[in-house]
Amino acid sequence: MSIHTHSTQEPILRASHVDKFFGGLTALDKVDFEVYPGEVVALLGDNGAGKSTLIKCISGVYKPDGGTITFDGKDISHLAPAAVRDAGIETIYQDLALAENLDVGANVFLGKEKTKRFAGFIPVTDDDYMRAEASKAVKRLDIVIPSLKQKLVSLSGGQRQAVAIARALYWQAKLVIMDEPTAALGVPEQRKVLAMVRLLRDQGVPVIIISHNMQDVLEVADRFVVMLRGKVNANVPREQVSSEKLISYIMGAEGDAVRNGV
Ligand SMILES: Nc1ncnc2c1ncn2[C@@H]1O[C@H](COP(=O)(O)OP(=O)(O)OP(=O)(O)O)[C@@H](O)[C@H]1O
Ligand SMILES: [Mg+2]
Repeated sequence: MSIHTHSTQEPILRASHVDKFFGGLTALDKVDFEVYPGEVVALLGDNGAGKSTLIKCISGVYKPDGGTITFDGKDISHLAPAAVRDAGIETIYQDLALAENLDVGANVFLGKEKTKRFAGFIPVTDDDYMRAEASKAVKRLDIVIPSLKQKLVSLSGGQRQAVAIARALYWQAKLVIMDEPTAALGVPEQRKVLAMVRLLRDQGVPVIIISHNMQDVLEVADRFVVMLRGKVNANVPREQVSSEKLISYIMGAEGDAVRNGV
């Protein structure tokens, strides 16, 4: 989507003046960050810039020390992670948030397990139902998982990403956040994860993607937000960006935060 449609649209996610402190360290300093419907936003920055902290404030893992975060018109600043997920934000980490010893079906339903009555009265998880439903969700993605009975431990990084994304699609996430989704993947799997990001966008689901891989983000992102030492240093649409510029914002050679003195 192009940037000039933004003026007529409300952002689905809006973080305003978000602060986060860890003891004496300012991890986030009055961060303003928006996501508009249907766009892929790349969140960039050097190690320790505050990217994961911002994501964790959005997903409910951390409570912001200042500022507000609204999603879909409601204040989510003080919600716990499960409530944020129920509101429609699915956060995907490389290793986190999936249960290694459960199969694919159970992972798609993690925390929302379907049960049935065994012998008429004993509640048990309905594994066949969950696998069948998970299979439909996985089929929408271009990733082969030999058996949905496979435990997560036996899957590759790319297959795990697919399970997490299948989960997001199945529960009709309204925003998907991916923190370093391709970092530990081989090249073919990186390609597939990027294809899944596009698929989400094509289905109208906005995505925030954190990556140190410039090539990856240049391929999929509609907008680039660069953080520098806890502040937003640049916010640029893809039409106005080059990898040289992005690197210069990341390194702190130029940018809004640099001009205002970080
Ligand atoms: N739980 C914590 N306790 C104390 N300090 C923290 C905590 N989490 C993050 N920090 C600090 O906050 C700053 C921002 O960290 P954050 O993890 O957000 O960086 P990042 O941009 O995600 O970096 P990377 O690219 O290396 O993942 C860093 O200085 C980090 O050391
Ligand atoms: Mg991080």
